[in-house]
Amino acid sequence: MTEQDFILNTYNNNIEKGSVKWSSPSNIALVKYWGKKEHQIPENPSISFTLSDCKTITEVIYTKKESKDFSFDVYFEGEKNEAFKPKIQTFFERIEMYMPFLRNYHFRIETSNTFPHSSGIASSASGMSALALCLMSVEEDLGVDYADDYFNQKASFLARLGSGSACRSVEGELVVWGKNESTESSDLYGVKFEGEVHKNFKNYQDTILLVDKGEKQVSSTVGHKLMFGHPFAKERFAQAHENLAKLKTILASGDLNEFVKVVESEALTLHAMMMTSMPYFILMKPNTLEIINKIWKFREQNNSNVCFTLDAGANVHVLYPENEKETVLNFIKKELTQYCQNGHYICDEIGLGANRI
Ligand code: DP6
Repeated sequence: MTEQDFILNTYNNNIEKGSVKWSSPSNIALVKYWGKKEHQIPENPSISFTLSDCKTITEVIYTKKESKDFSFDVYFEGEKNEAFKPKIQTFFERIEMYMPFLRNYHFRIETSNTFPHSSGIASSASGMSALALCLMSVEEDLGVDYADDYFNQKASFLARLGSGSACRSVEGELVVWGKNESTESSDLYGVKFEGEVHKNFKNYQDTILLVDKGEKQVSSTVGHKLMFGHPFAKERFAQAHENLAKLKTILASGDLNEFVKVVESEALTLHAMMMTSMPYFILMKPNTLEIINKIWKFREQNNSNVCFTLDAGANVHVLYPENEKETVLNFIKKELTQYCQNGHYICDEIGLGANRI
């Protein structure tokens, strides 16, 4: 598939109005996307677990209008929201050539998250994928008939143009994005991981510890840019390829010991890239480190396979196999919630991807 394959050529011009609704989950990367080229093309491949309960639910109500500027309103959790508009405007500009009907309609976008508003959880992945899927359903309403594969590919392709990691939220349970030699993949959209997955990873758990719910000082978009001319960029991009290859073997063998090593090393490398860019920055908080140290101690003392990963923030994703659910949750409640803002954490697990509602 190339970009050209996603351009819509013919559609029914006479549809007056309609509405579509999707729920789309967040995802957590095991091998991290950090650094991109023009047009949202990643510098290195990434792979993520799709989550199950952390979702965005978006309804798009469209009404025919005169074809001029883009026209849309955004309602977040029932209230009109101006803050999201610039990002959606940019998104529309980027995807217009693939969806030529965008200027012919006014869109009322009603969106809400299943996770708390100010949790500091990245909602761009679930938000942008939900919106992309809604627009794909509008496209279908306009008489375009697609095979399932193409629908998901184009939805993921569009989501990527909204936010890179969003392209990994359309499907589950593991999604790869970015060309590489070990798995089937594309730079343009996420591809369901087709390798073998051992039963140890079935219903893998992710408990998200909300360490800091505030606005990040440095956005991901700025962070990605700082990988240009970064002194360790080349090595880092090569390492992501190696880690993805390793992970493929680990997912098949079920070797949790090795899984922990790759996943934690990826998380710390991501933050090491932030600390060694110019300007440098730190998104971890003291409590992030407290939690990491507690996890390491617990793992050693209890012969556990619990591990952590981080995204571009201070929150900690605690990952563990389903058969350790009870013991790890007890540990989290007893020893880790003290480091969470207002004791808040969210229990989630690996999920199957987006759903039309
Ligand atoms: C650290 O997808 O938020 O979570 O493409 O600029 O929207 P943009 O960036 P974004 O970056 C997320 C980076 C990450 C790692 C990952 O999810 O792979």
